[in-house]
Amino acid sequence: MTDSLYSRLGGYDGIATFSTTLVRQARGDELLGRFWSDSGEDRLARELQLLIDYLVKETGGQMYYTGRDMALAHKGMGITEADWTRFIEIVTSVAGDLGVGPTEGGEVLAFLDSLKGDIVIA
Ligand code: HEM
Repeated sequence: MTDSLYSRLGGYDGIATFSTTLVRQARGDELLGRFWSDSGEDRLARELQLLIDYLVKETGGQMYYTGRDMALAHKGMGITEADWTRFIEIVTSVAGDLGVGPTEGGEVLAFLDSLKGDIVIA
C-alpha cells in the first residue's frame, strides 16, 4: 500500500514548513498581500495553525481540524481567478524549493483544485 500523502510530504513537520513558507510568501505577494493587510500577528498565527491542521487532516495525518469549511472561511473575500492562479504559482514554487517530488506535488495540486469552487468567486 502506498504511504499517505501526509507521510510522503514529510509528516507534520513537512506540512508545517510548507504551510509557513506558503503563508509568508502569499502575505508578501504584490497581488495577494491585500488579503492580509489588516491581519494582526495573533490572527495570522491562528490562521497558519488552522491551515496546518487542515492540511494534515486532509492528507491522511492525525489532526482534528477546528476551523471553518473552505467556503465559509473565504466567503466575502472576493478571491478572483487571477488571485487563484497566483496562489497556485506560489504553491508550485514553494513545493519546488522544499524538494516536494513531482508525484506528491501533483497530488497537492489536484487536492487544491478540488477546493477551488468553494474559494474563488464565480
Ligand atoms: C488565493 C487563495 C487564498 C487566499 C487569498 C486565502 C486567504 C485567506 C485569508 C485572508 C484567511 C483569513 C480569514 C480570517 O482571518 O478571517 C484564510 C483562512 C483560511 N484559509 Fe485561505 N486563502 C486562499 C486559499 C486557501 C486554500 C487553497 C486553503 C486550503 C488548502 C486555505 C485554507 C484556509 C484555512 C484553513 C483558513 C482558516 C479557516 C478559519 O479561520 O476557520 N486557503 N484564507
